[in-house]
Amino acid sequence: MKISVLTLFPEIFTGFQETSIIKKAILKGLVDYEVIDMRSFTEDKHNRVDDYPYGGGAGLVLMCQPVIDAIKATRTESSVVVMLTPQGRTLKQSIAYELSTYDHLILLCGHYEGFDERIRHYVDMEMSIGDYVLTGGETAAMVISDAVIRLVDGVITKESHEDDSFSNGLLEYPHYTRPRDYEGLVVPDVLISGHHENVRTFRLKESLRKTKRVRPDLLESREMTDLEIKLLHEIENE
Ligand code: ADE
Repeated sequence: MKISVLTLFPEIFTGFQETSIIKKAILKGLVDYEVIDMRSFTEDKHNRVDDYPYGGGAGLVLMCQPVIDAIKATRTESSVVVMLTPQGRTLKQSIAYELSTYDHLILLCGHYEGFDERIRHYVDMEMSIGDYVLTGGETAAMVISDAVIRLVDGVITKESHEDDSFSNGLLEYPHYTRPRDYEGLVVPDVLISGHHENVRTFRLKESLRKTKRVRPDLLESREMTDLEIKLLHEIENE
């Protein structure tokens, strides 16, 4: 898959592309990641990309010309143009899966007060990473890129993301590694028992316990198996 980021601050992406799993995915050729400076498209003699809003008000607005020319120069027939804005759909794991199936994502990052409304005519979808306002879309583009890239075939093992939080509609179960006893905090016996069925049930129960405590909203919209209902009853009666 290919991801193209359109931004006014390409330098923000340097560390992101050059670190850990993302770096490996790029080096292995599993993801083609390009960062394009939208300022290089401006036709303004002072290199301006933003201007004062019609009607007045605070802040500057990104102008149509450099942004739309950057989109036109980057997109192909298989591209999906995603605008990063607090007004978009909120990112969820299911949307990350959906985005990971596209051939070419173009992530359009705003800065300052926002985009000229007419830019939206050139965009396929708008995405937000949460109900808060960032200074720009760049960190949101990194969040989306990260969530999507790790789902691309070959980047991490399938088992690694099948167990992820949200993949089965629950928060993930707790993990432990050596030592078995750390300052009196001990690893649950069942994980050392070698009894795979019991380990699976323990993990499911702990997932349910955490989800019920931290994100009860996830349980409300979820169809439960008989085992899950039984485990939830056990948790309630503890
Ligand atoms: N740009 C500014 N705030 C944002 C948010 N919450 N999500 C995506 N892009 C943004």
